[in-house]
Amino acid sequence: MTTQTAVQTAPAKAGASFDGRALRDAFGSFATGVTIVTTAGPDNVDIGLTANSFSSVSLDPPMVLWSLARTSLNMDAFRSSGHFAVHILSADQEALSGRFASKGIDRFEGLAPERGPDGIPLLQDCMARFTCKLAYQYEGGDHVIFVGEIVEFSHSARKPLVFHGGRYGMLLPKQAARSDALDEFSNLSSDDLLYQVSNAYFQTRQKVIEKLEDNRWTAEEYAVLSIIGREDGLCVPEIVARSEKVRGQGVSAAIVQKLIGRGLLHEVDSDDGQVAVRLTPAGRAAVLELIAIRKSSEADVQGDLDPSEVQLLKHLLARLVS
Ligand SMILES: Cc1cc2nc3c(=O)[nH]c(=O)nc-3n(C[C@H](O)[C@H](O)[C@H](O)COP(=O)(O)O)c2cc1C
Repeated sequence: MTTQTAVQTAPAKAGASFDGRALRDAFGSFATGVTIVTTAGPDNVDIGLTANSFSSVSLDPPMVLWSLARTSLNMDAFRSSGHFAVHILSADQEALSGRFASKGIDRFEGLAPERGPDGIPLLQDCMARFTCKLAYQYEGGDHVIFVGEIVEFSHSARKPLVFHGGRYGMLLPKQAARSDALDEFSNLSSDDLLYQVSNAYFQTRQKVIEKLEDNRWTAEEYAVLSIIGREDGLCVPEIVARSEKVRGQGVSAAIVQKLIGRGLLHEVDSDDGQVAVRLTPAGRAAVLELIAIRKSSEADVQGDLDPSEVQLLKHLLARLVS
């Protein structure tokens, strides 16, 4: 079902305005990247602000544009400077975007920019950078449109920071249409969400199990020690119940006995008269070792996903089960 929104009709009188909020929201439905545009002001003061009005214009000659609000404190500087630079931000540069949109702070503090023509500041480590000679300025209502001819540019393959509906986001490439092929071992379609989630679970879990086995631990021992590691004494039925909750599978009481036999757990009387188990000093050292193994498995499981993709995956998985 599509959501119907109120239609705004152009007022008959030229120059009469739409509802500002509605127009802003409609503009905001256009997803953009985020840039920082810099120039040098009078006395070579470094100037820069966050802007998403950037657009490519022409390949030959190479040109770009962006627009600046007339309310900007830096209008005069951009109008009179011969050059500006546009920096396209990557997904991990949200804080930099926030900084260059904030008033009353030194936006360049600690940045050590390189210098371009006319001494304009060039920020480092952005996804792409276009150094431009100011070619034209146009009146654009409450904005001024600056068109620049590119004199130098650089580009690196990264994930872009995205702005949409007044919020930052990340890009999720659409998967190419896939055939509804069946998994070779079952009648599940390999494109089903259920298939993908369970397949990802089993394959990533396998990587952790292999790492544990390399270090002479079993998955059951790991489960028991990490469950007890959080508590000051647990009885066996509780350990089994928690393991079922966490892993979808219980552990046998024999594993607990085995860990007692290895000196990693010891028995204590619990408040309700049952026998509980607690970590020995050797057990606590084992828990630390298992935490280190889990951390290094985390890196294996992430594979070649970059940090922004890992963040997105965690977010989506959390939503799936919320
Ligand atoms: C994502 C984002 C995009 C923005 N795009 C623009 C823009 O294209 N043009 C503009 O004038 N201001 C834009 N702004 C607002 C300015 O960055 C902000 O008003 C800044 O404080 C202006 O600084 P100045 O007055 O020092 O020039 C944007 C802000 C954000 C957070």
